[in-house]
Formats: sequence, structure tokens, C-alpha cells
Amino acid sequence: MATQKLLLLPGDGIGPEVMAEVSRLIDWMNQNGLGNFETETDLVGGSCYDAHQQAITDATMDKAKAADAVILAAVGGPKWDKVPFEARPEAGLLRLRKDLGLFANLRPAICYPALAEASSLKREVVDGLDIMIVRELTGGVYFGEPKTITDLGNGQKRAIDTQVYDTYEIERIGRVAFEMARKRRNKVTSMEKRNVMKTGILWNEVVTRVHAAEFKDVTLEHQLADSGGMQLVRWPKQFDVIVTDNLFGDVLSDIAAMLTGSLGMLPSASLGETDPKTKKRKAMYEPVHGSAPDIAGKGLANPIAMIASFAMALRYSFDMGKEADMIEQAIAAVLDKGLRTADIKSEGTRVVNTQQMGEAIVAEVAALAG
Ligand code: IPM
Ligand code: MG
Repeated sequence: MATQKLLLLPGDGIGPEVMAEVSRLIDWMNQNGLGNFETETDLVGGSCYDAHQQAITDATMDKAKAADAVILAAVGGPKWDKVPFEARPEAGLLRLRKDLGLFANLRPAICYPALAEASSLKREVVDGLDIMIVRELTGGVYFGEPKTITDLGNGQKRAIDTQVYDTYEIERIGRVAFEMARKRRNKVTSMEKRNVMKTGILWNEVVTRVHAAEFKDVTLEHQLADSGGMQLVRWPKQFDVIVTDNLFGDVLSDIAAMLTGSLGMLPSASLGETDPKTKKRKAMYEPVHGSAPDIAGKGLANPIAMIASFAMALRYSFDMGKEADMIEQAIAAVLDKGLRTADIKSEGTRVVNTQQMGEAIVAEVAALAG
């Protein structure tokens, strides 16, 4: 078996705790012939700022480029509220996404039946939910220039962010969504704000054209992003794949996370273009949740989104769909047995800490692997 080179970036807050549970799983897989992972760990975010006064170093970027996949936990926290904007923890994450060209962010929101009670919505609304949010990740208002705050000199300041999208950026994320839908329930809902934004008009036009030219077999619907947010909490099961821009995708995926019971449940994959020669693509895998500094170091964090993100790495970077399925089944089995971290606890369940949850999932993987 070829070695699979992973760069682990635990980051800040609960990051190191949840990453430790992925390391536990990796060690087990290596020891039991299910993988041949070679890992290296490095700094990103506030922890990198403390050591190097920047959110990620060039040396770490080089390692990220050389790795077969990057596994990142979370960055940020109040400790770094006052650091210069360019060096804030989130800048490390954004640089990784941008410099690795990770334009396609897949955020699957699955409600495990055992967790329907943990959602703030009624069971029938979320039970069995399985949707995929495809978020554009390297364009839009997060990266557009100008991005400035100017002093107007009269006691007023002016802040500018710029939302920019070129045709090719919309085409390629549209294709990812349509191809994804073909492997699922064959439906794409595109969300934008064409009623107020020029980028929304172009988004709608390009997605419609790509659909007509290449994906006629897939059902395409359009929704305005605000109304889409409303529909997501009203009746989320109407959706299969949702494709949307960077900012709307950020917001809508946090909403979707709560449908699944907790932000601690949602994994994500960020993928670049496939190299036509090597057939490889740059990729980073991270939970949707943040660094949760309020609960860091207490063993309260839910490691499931992190572990499920590693399962996505197996599926999308290493063609190890069978092993990925096994990890996802193990998560479901542990939940069925009533084990819960504090964020997803409900009556009649047993609350465990981060490490116990990680151990239980590894034990379940071992049982499934026979
Ligand atoms: C996410 C996060 C990031 C984002 C932050 C940490 C920069 O919220 O991945 O959803 O806004 O993209
Ligand atoms: Mg977010």
C-alpha cells in the first residue's frame, strides 16, 4: 500500500482535543493494516501567531502543498482579538483555502436517527435528513478587493468588502454540485440574491447555462438565499444538493448544522481542481465548527465532526470509500448505544467526554472491521 501523507493542523481551542481522536483512529488503522498514513503536525491560527507572529508560515504552507491531504481542526479565540487583521487566526485558514485552490467546499448535513431529539426542530422535520451544501470557497466577498476601512476625516469611517465572481468560478462549482447530485437524489438547488446583487444575476445565469448544456438529467431549482434559509428550517428534506457562494454558504451551513443536532456533528471537505495528469487534487478536511474557546481543555468537545471529516478524506482523497463507510457506521452505532458528548445529550443517554467518545468510535470501527 502506498503511503498517504497527512498534514495535521490542530489549531486552537478544542482543536487539539478533537484532533487527538483522529490521531487515535489513524494509529489504529496503521496498526491494523487498514491504512499506511504518515502524519506530520504543525501550527495554524492563534497558536502559530504566538510562535511566529503570523497565522501560518511559508514552511507550513509548503508542507500543506506537499501533503496528500490536510486535516485541520479549528482556529481562533478571544485571546487573539487584538492581533493585526492580516495575522488573525482565520487568516491562516483562508490562506490555506486560497493558496491550495480549494474552491469546492462540501458540507454534508446528516441527521443520525439517534440524534433527532438533539435538534431544536421537531423530530419529523430532521429525522433521516441527508443534504449536501456545496459552498464556493475561494471567491466572493471573503477575498474580493478592495477590502478596506478608510477614515473619512469627519469622524466617520467607511468599510468596504467586495463581492466578485467570474464566470469560470461559478461554472466549476456548479459542475461539482451537479456531479454530486447525480450520485445522490439528482436534485440541485442554487441559492443567490439575484434580486439585489449583480453577482446573484451572474450566478443564476451561469448555473442555468451549465445545467442546460451538461446536466439536463439533474433537476435544478433556484431559491433566493434568504428564503432558502427559511426553507432550510421549515422543511429541510426538500433539499438534496444546495450550491451557493462563499458567504451564503458559510451562513447556510451553520443553519444546516443545527438541523443535525449540533455544530459538533458537521464535517467538511474542501477540494481543488483535479490535475488531469496525476488525477490528484489538493484537499483539506475540517469540521464546520469553530474552536469553542469556552469549553477548550475540559474534555467537553464533540470529536464526531472531526472524525467524520477524516472519513471524508478517506472517501475523497484516498479512494477508501469502504473504510469511510465503516467510520460513519461506527459513529451511528456509538450514538445508537446512547453515548453522547454534552452538546448532544438528551434524556436517557450517557454523557461521555471527548476521549471516551473517540475511544468508543475506534472500538466500533475495530468491531466492524472484524
Ligand atoms: C467556516 C468558518 C470560517 C469561514 C472562519 C473561521 C473563517 O466559519 O469554515 O465556516 O468563515 O469560512
Ligand atoms: Mg462558518
